[in-house]
Amino acid sequence: MAGSQWLRCVLVLAMAVLGVQAIDIDVSSEDSIKNAASIAAYGMMKHYKGNESGEIPGKIPNTWWEGGAMFMTLIQYYHYTGDSTYNSEVIQGMQWQAGDCDYMPANWSSYIGNDDQMFWGLAAMTAAELNFPDSSDGYSWLSLAQGVFNTQVARWDNTTCNGGMRWQIYTYESGYTMKNSISNGGLFQLSARLARYTSNNTYYEWAERIWDWTTTTPLLSNSTWNVADSTSTTNDCSTQGDDQWSYNYGAFLGGAAYMYNYTNGTGTKWSTAVSGLLNRTLDKFFPSSHGGYIMEEILCEPLEVCNNNEIIFKGLVAAWLAYTAYLVPSTYDSILPKLQGSAKGAAATCTGYGNNTCGVRWWNNTWDGWSGLEEQMSVLSIFSVNMLPYTNSSAAPLTSSTGGNSTSDPSAGTDDSSKDKATLSTITTGDRAGAGVVTVVFAAAWIGMMGWLMIG
Ligand SMILES: *[C@@H]1O[C@H](CO)[C@@H](O)[C@H](O)[C@H]1NC(C)=O
Ligand SMILES: *[C@@H]1O[C@H](CO)[C@@H](O)[C@H](O)[C@H]1NC(C)=O
Ligand SMILES: *[C@@H]1O[C@H](CO)[C@@H](O)[C@H](O)[C@H]1NC(C)=O
Ligand SMILES: *[C@@H]1O[C@H](CO)[C@@H](O)[C@H](O)[C@H]1NC(C)=O
Ligand SMILES: *[C@@H]1O[C@H](CO)[C@@H](O)[C@H](O)[C@H]1NC(C)=O
Ligand SMILES: *[C@@H]1O[C@H](CO)[C@@H](O)[C@H](O)[C@H]1NC(C)=O
Ligand SMILES: *[C@@H]1O[C@H](CO)[C@@H](O)[C@H](O)[C@H]1NC(C)=O
Ligand SMILES: *[C@@H]1O[C@H](CO)[C@@H](O)[C@H](O)[C@H]1NC(C)=O
Ligand SMILES: *[C@@H]1O[C@H](CO)[C@@H](O)[C@H](O)[C@H]1NC(C)=O
Ligand SMILES: *[C@@H]1O[C@H](CO)[C@@H](O)[C@H](O)[C@H]1NC(C)=O
Ligand SMILES: *[C@@H]1O[C@H](CO)[C@@H](O)[C@H](O)[C@H]1NC(C)=O
Ligand SMILES: *[C@@H]1O[C@H](CO)[C@@H](O)[C@H](O)[C@H]1NC(C)=O
Repeated sequence: MAGSQWLRCVLVLAMAVLGVQAIDIDVSSEDSIKNAASIAAYGMMKHYKGNESGEIPGKIPNTWWEGGAMFMTLIQYYHYTGDSTYNSEVIQGMQWQAGDCDYMPANWSSYIGNDDQMFWGLAAMTAAELNFPDSSDGYSWLSLAQGVFNTQVARWDNTTCNGGMRWQIYTYESGYTMKNSISNGGLFQLSARLARYTSNNTYYEWAERIWDWTTTTPLLSNSTWNVADSTSTTNDCSTQGDDQWSYNYGAFLGGAAYMYNYTNGTGTKWSTAVSGLLNRTLDKFFPSSHGGYIMEEILCEPLEVCNNNEIIFKGLVAAWLAYTAYLVPSTYDSILPKLQGSAKGAAATCTGYGNNTCGVRWWNNTWDGWSGLEEQMSVLSIFSVNMLPYTNSSAAPLTSSTGGNSTSDPSAGTDDSSKDKATLSTITTGDRAGAGVVTVVFAAAWIGMMGWLMIG
């Protein structure tokens, strides 16, 4: 071989080793899954500055709700892999944003939506169920979830559509006139999880009330199992913004799995709900056009127009599918291959910038040029849940009678409604206009609303 050929050969080898780094995931190896997850987590936390001096713990620039989703993902990462590297940041951020034990922190509470608050409540619930280490001087994880439940059920709105949660909390927020699936599905799931964890039937009754109400609206069909994004109080919830987002399905599916498990699998209501929603979720969001085993956010990925909110949805759904597999063991066999196929697809995207940056589309075997905290979050989630086959029912979400010991406070969050009102009454007209704009930028289901406007 001539010298120049040697040189080229060495260069090609060096490129292979250093240049196009991919994440190799072998879903049949625990070590490989843990290693892949740790690389994705490292890449995600490169984007998180909240624990640095001068920054606000738990606050991600331009968004508040994503912090809850991020910590939820890290809590699950720790649970599945045992890597505690980021635990102190999780505890710091989750407590910093806790408000008066209700995730209504004064800095942000005047423009957040019910769904935004809900994600922090679900993160706290996750921490309780997975026995995540407590904060030494903060609120217990369970009480934080109870605080979100208490503040939200107080907003249950019987004045329009015979019930339901509005998307937004205050009249001046864009989207106040809408009732949407993620706000109702989120509270349904939180209530179901509180019921199972505490065995307090009041939470079950609320979960069932929310579910039953939702099935009387175009949001959720208990015959076709379609989940729409939104409906409107301006026409008595008669029209449908039918945009199809994976997390709306996942929120109801996950909640139904908890209801099934809490009721010990008795009756058919929850087993039918799990089966129907799971069928639709797997059919829709694991399209056969990509082989049927790789998750796709079908509304935004084909044209690659997903916003940061939407990029997170697949990661949320991955986590909820894993809980479903634990809580309704008959679903395990249909769920696992979908999580494995998606993890392999996701890993193949992680060749960005030569530093394992991951993309949005998991189904094209290549990096698509997108990158960010949100991309890393979804990939981290799908890698973590691939530990499912290496766990057993003792790794399932705990309850207070199976080892979960987070301290209960059934009245958490109920003493600060006066404070929320005080914050509200000091808001000027100028602030209101500003808040409306901010809401439009931050709220989770903006595209859903657009869809509704076009249809309505
Ligand atoms: C990878 O490179 C990109 C672009 O320079 C950067 O934004 C990102 O933080 C890097 N990620 C890691 C894990 O170093
Ligand atoms: C923030 O957390 C990361 C990961 O735990 C750590 O490496 C870093 O030193 C922390 N930064 C500060 C300022 O504490
Ligand atoms: C509220 O804003 C202040 C001023 O920027 C900041 O110091 C504080 O950490 C913020 N608190 C929360 C909960 O975001
Ligand atoms: C709304 O309806 C629920 C369920 O029927 C009931 O418990 C609650 O008291 C009602 N709330 C208001 C404000 O009327
Ligand atoms: C389906 O929802 C409708 C409307 O709420 C309700 O009347 C019916 O009983 C539900 N069917 C089942 C099987 O739960
Ligand atoms: C489920 O089973 C447990 C243990 O047998 C029992 O204590 C509980 O009451 C049952 N729950 C329901 C809702 O039937
Ligand atoms: C879900 O699909 C399975 C397999 O096709 C079918 O047996 C089951 O009846 C479906 N569930 C519902 C609720 O339609
Ligand atoms: C409830 O979940 C636990 C934990 O995964 C599981 O062992 C149990 O079989 C489930 N109960 C039912 C009725 O499927
Ligand atoms: C799939 O990836 C290839 C490169 O491997 C690229 O040329 C093609 O445009 C991608 N297709 C889509 C739909 O992203
Ligand atoms: C479940 O897994 C844990 C951790 O690997 C192990 O300690 C425990 O013995 C297992 N339990 C059963 C019933 O297999
Ligand atoms: C819960 O149990 C863990 C050990 O599993 C322990 O470290 C923790 O302090 C306990 N928490 C409470 C609130 O008792
Ligand atoms: C059950 O939860 C409800 C609603 O938060 C609360 O009012 C009640 O005190 C709880 N009961 C017990 C025994 O903790």
